[in-house]
Amino acid sequence: MSNQKIPVEKYSTPEIASKSVAKEVAALIQKNNSDGKNTVLGLATGSTPLHLYKELIRIHKEDGLSFKNTITFNLDDYYPISQDDPESYYYFMQQHFIKHIDILPENFHIPDSNMPRESIEIECAKYEQTIKDSGGIDIQILGIGRTGHIGFNEPGSSRDSRTRLVELDKITRDDACSNFNSLENTPKYSLTMGVATIMEAKKIILMAWGKSKSEIIAKVVKGSITNEASASFLQSHPNAKFVLDKDSVSRL
Ligand code: PGA
Repeated sequence: MSNQKIPVEKYSTPEIASKSVAKEVAALIQKNNSDGKNTVLGLATGSTPLHLYKELIRIHKEDGLSFKNTITFNLDDYYPISQDDPESYYYFMQQHFIKHIDILPENFHIPDSNMPRESIEIECAKYEQTIKDSGGIDIQILGIGRTGHIGFNEPGSSRDSRTRLVELDKITRDDACSNFNSLENTPKYSLTMGVATIMEAKKIILMAWGKSKSEIIAKVVKGSITNEASASFLQSHPNAKFVLDKDSVSRL
């Protein structure tokens, strides 16, 4: 375990791990609410954060945690995809989190997967500016893909990359393909925050569950920093940790 380059917390199940992360997020929101300050969260989609959102919704409903002073920025979405498409990350966020809490609609942000191609550069720069104007991300939640991507920063993404259009890796498209019925229907592109955008977060929590993630987890926790796996850049973040279940941790 001594050659680990990123702090790791290990839990028996994803549910228990997610409850611990939810507690940490809720505690920050609660403290900032009491101090009259906003909380800025960077959010992820996919199967990994589902338990986290469920637990935060429970804390909102049962313990009265308010999200009125919370501002959120999602990492990414497919491009192009309609926001009404159940596979869009916009739709995912509404269904699994946003519509269940009291966040102000204008405080939920996600890259606009319908913008015309010619607007992408300027809109992505605006996304970056909106994050800065909000005071920067307090806690960034991440999953990890089998390519080692964080957000959709596929192999080849550099440390200084910013919010932009990226071509999805074959492995990522293979993993997403069952949601789109065929590889042909699976999006080829996405809009994603860059590695540099993510690295500016004050605190980063990457979660991963299951055996299928164990190989890439071992690589990015113990291997060298490389743009072949963007999660490896987290080794150089001063306040990043991995929250893992017993299966994803199994090769460490
Ligand atoms: P998953 O995706 O949560 O559905 O495993 C994670 C990712 O690709 O970043």
